[in-house]
Amino acid sequence: MASTNSITGFTSDFLDDNRDRARELVDSYYNDEFLSSIGDPTDVILSEFPAIAWRELYLGCLPPNKQVYLIYERGEPFGRDRDLIVGLNKQIKDEFKHAKIFTNYLSQFGVDVDLTTHEESEEIIQACRTMVDRDEPHHIAAGFQCSTEIRAAFMVQNLAEYIEQEYPNVANTLMKHVVADEGDHLHVGRQIIERFSSDDETEMMQTITDEKFEKIDAAMAARFEAATN
Ligand SMILES: [Fe+2]
Ligand SMILES: [Fe+2]
Repeated sequence: MASTNSITGFTSDFLDDNRDRARELVDSYYNDEFLSSIGDPTDVILSEFPAIAWRELYLGCLPPNKQVYLIYERGEPFGRDRDLIVGLNKQIKDEFKHAKIFTNYLSQFGVDVDLTTHEESEEIIQACRTMVDRDEPHHIAAGFQCSTEIRAAFMVQNLAEYIEQEYPNVANTLMKHVVADEGDHLHVGRQIIERFSSDDETEMMQTITDEKFEKIDAAMAARFEAATN
């Protein structure tokens, strides 16, 4: 739990907590038991990559796009906040690259996923909307870069470990060109919170994240139970 009211102290505790929570969640529900219930590494690639590609593009790019807009409106995009504009656009570029990595591998397996027409469930679309539909850049950061994205990075890491023996090059690419980028995304989220949040908003930031983790926990637990029972 966050123990201080100063924003810088808050974000350090907040991110440590969120890392621990995300690690525990992913290791409980997106582990070898779950992945082997889908099948062998080839089955896992064919089953998981289309949805991950969609999430990299839509969940990955829409929130930072909204943050760029909000910083333009509320911040100093041509002055103090130029580093945030640069960081967010790097993130948007990275997330698009991640989506392409997953779709390019799928095409090597004979599956063409066109992200301009690929459809995801209403539940996932709704999760994306709840991340984007906020009016402050630091509120988006709390529910996205500083929580959901940590979870997403650990999921890709566990997936890479599962397929590594059969597909070492794919696993290596996921670690080096997807997971490795996430540190920068977390960093820009942290900078946004530290610059835009006031000390009396720490409780709200915690609530946004708690709600996010509760929803993720329920969805991942349900998927795990359905697959393994
Ligand atoms: Fe990503
Ligand atoms: Fe990311």
